[in-house]
Amino acid sequence: MATRRNDRDTESFVALLNEDLQTEYQSIVQYINHIATITGPEFLSIIGELKVHLGQELVHAQTLADQVSFLGGRPATTVPRVQTASDSRGALAADLHLENDQLERYRERFSQASELGLADVAEALRPLLEQTQEHVRDLKTALGE
Ligand SMILES: [Fe+2]
Ligand SMILES: [Fe+2]
Repeated sequence: MATRRNDRDTESFVALLNEDLQTEYQSIVQYINHIATITGPEFLSIIGELKVHLGQELVHAQTLADQVSFLGGRPATTVPRVQTASDSRGALAADLHLENDQLERYRERFSQASELGLADVAEALRPLLEQTQEHVRDLKTALGE
């Protein structure tokens, strides 16, 4: 019985990891678009930061796909719809919104992995959690928040 419940918990955990993976696909598309379209001297330094974020999102997506596969799931390939922002500030606000959402997701996922006794998975998720915190900080600074 306990094992069956654990299987079910792992299955929902994998489904959530797959949703996390899709949010990373969204980040990748969104950052590529924003790096190419954000303008204005006040945003010059954040564009450099966004390029760093983009490289890290690629690694986040790879990490999540590996974990899904490791846990017996099939990594998602669906990219959520990306809204186009009307201006540079709006674009950065959308990035911040997505990063905040991911931060919440990774905090939850990290503790779920630990609860499920998946120490390796929790360890693999730690850099995602830490780098997402940095991304939130970078975007807040750029937006003067
Ligand atoms: Fe990410
Ligand atoms: Fe990020």
